[in-house]
This record gives sequence, C-alpha cells and structure tokens, in this order.
Amino acid sequence: MITKCLFPAAGYGTRFLPATKAMPKEMLPILTKPLIQYGVEEAYEAGCDIMAIITGRGKRAITDHFDISYELEHQIQGSPKENLLDEIRVLMDKCTFTYTRQNEMKGLGDAIYKGKVLVGDEQPFGVILADDLCVNADGDGVMSQMIKIYSKYRCSIVAIMEVPLDQVHKYGIISGKEIEDGIYMIEDMVEKPDKAPSNLAIIGRYILTPDIFKIIENTKSGKNGELQITDALLQQAKHGMVLGYKFKGKRFDCGSLDGFVEATNYFYDNLSTKG
Ligand code: UTP
Repeated sequence: MITKCLFPAAGYGTRFLPATKAMPKEMLPILTKPLIQYGVEEAYEAGCDIMAIITGRGKRAITDHFDISYELEHQIQGSPKENLLDEIRVLMDKCTFTYTRQNEMKGLGDAIYKGKVLVGDEQPFGVILADDLCVNADGDGVMSQMIKIYSKYRCSIVAIMEVPLDQVHKYGIISGKEIEDGIYMIEDMVEKPDKAPSNLAIIGRYILTPDIFKIIENTKSGKNGELQITDALLQQAKHGMVLGYKFKGKRFDCGSLDGFVEATNYFYDNLSTKG
C-alpha cells in the first residue's frame, strides 16, 4: 500500500568537509556501499518501488549511481567482479528513481515539500534520511516495521529512540502516551530543545500521510530559520494523530564522524566474506 519513499538528500554535509566539497554526503561509503544505497535497499525490502530523491547542486553522483555505467560494466563483464554490482542491479531493475532539486537549503520540512511533485498528494509515503543508517539483524528493517504499524493506525509515524538526556539538543524530541508497547501517541514535539519533554528522539524514518503538504504550506520557519518537519508534524498531531514508534534494531548517525566510524566497524565486523 505504501510504494513510494522520499529521500531528502540536499543537505551540504558540512561535518564531512572537505570530503563533501564535491561529493554528496549520501555517497560516502560504509565499506563498499554508499549510504543512499543502504536506504534504498531498506525501502525496497519494505515494498517500495518508487524512490523519490531530493537532490541539490553537486549531487549528480547520486543520479549516476542508480543508472547504468556501460563502460564500467563492459570492462568487468565475465570477471568475478561482475557480482559486485548484483545488489544495485536488482534495485535498478525493480525500482523507478525520480529526482527533483531543492534549490535552497530551507530545512527538512521544505525538502519534503519539494517531494510533493514526485510522490503526489493522494497516498501516504515513507521518508528515509540516508545518513541515519538503520539495521535490524533479527528481522524486518525499520521501514518495514513502520509500514506494518501504518496498516493498523493509518496515520503519520515517526521512528524514535531513547537518547541520553545530554544529547536531546541534537534531535527532535517527542512526548506522549504509550498506547502499545513501544508506540506513543504524540502530544508534544520540539526540535533540538534546550529543555526536553522526554528523551525520546526522532530519527530519520517517517511515514507521512499526504495532508502533511497542506500543513507544511501553513508552517512558518522555526529553529535556525529552517522549515522544520517537526513543527508541521506537531500541527498534524494536534488536529489528528501522529505516532512515535520505538523501532527494533540499531541506528548509526552517519552524518557525524563518530557514527560513521561506528557503522563502518559494525559492518566490517559482520562481513561474511572478510579476508
Ligand atoms: P542534516 O541536519 O544532517 O544537515 O540534515 P546536512 O546539511 O546534511 O549536514 P551537516 O549538518 O551540514 O553536516 C538531515 C537530512 O535532511 C536533509 C539532509 O540531506 C540530510 O539527509 N536536508 C536537510 C535536506 O535535504 N534539505 C535541507 O534543507 C536540510
């Protein structure tokens, strides 16, 4: 039922300069795979086959990554290296990739709004921030888990995790009533607070119902002068229902150096073909 997934990928990735001067942050690899490919795989596993990517200036490598590279493929044809492209070939065969640009970095809410032309305003859709890399070794990926919850509650859902209280200023924080084990009906939500209503932090996975676009249109810029998706979601929660879902699995903040190194070590330690 949810077949479209939006990937806001227009940010500058300044924490990774100079690496991100000419290369998109989403193309930084964890071992041999760029961050955005992990995100697309998670969406595909969850049943999505339309991948809508919000890019910006200097992000052309993302578009090229999900396209055929004739020269390269000709070069490795018949060699064992051909297998290295197996996973991405499946994605290219089975999925449609669409793109639009966010011309100015006006915040995640604005980036998601730009995606309206790609995902339409009739069906719910997933949102994945590829720099939040999520894995669940014991079962379904995070987007799959969220789609299951959507089919029961049919409202917008944000993935949440507990963070130490001295870290809450880095996240959007929710508070609300736990209505089922790990599922919260959101009552309040605040972006990067000094004083937080809880330690439940929003991470880069969302399911949004399409009425969010109208709400974003009526949302003013918030923290840091950016259009914050948390402000729009709070309005949606006040006039309807938005859930916070404590996902199963691990999340690496690959937009930060520590998280990026942690993810690299995790994937290297779990590599079956090492050596
Ligand atoms: P970040 O806050 O991590 O920003 O955005 P950033 O610019 O990518 O990284 P730093 O802080 O400069 O190092 C979270 C996600 O939202 C997207 C980013 O691409 C990233 O996936 N985003 C953010 C947009 O697409 N547009 C925006 O205007 C803001």
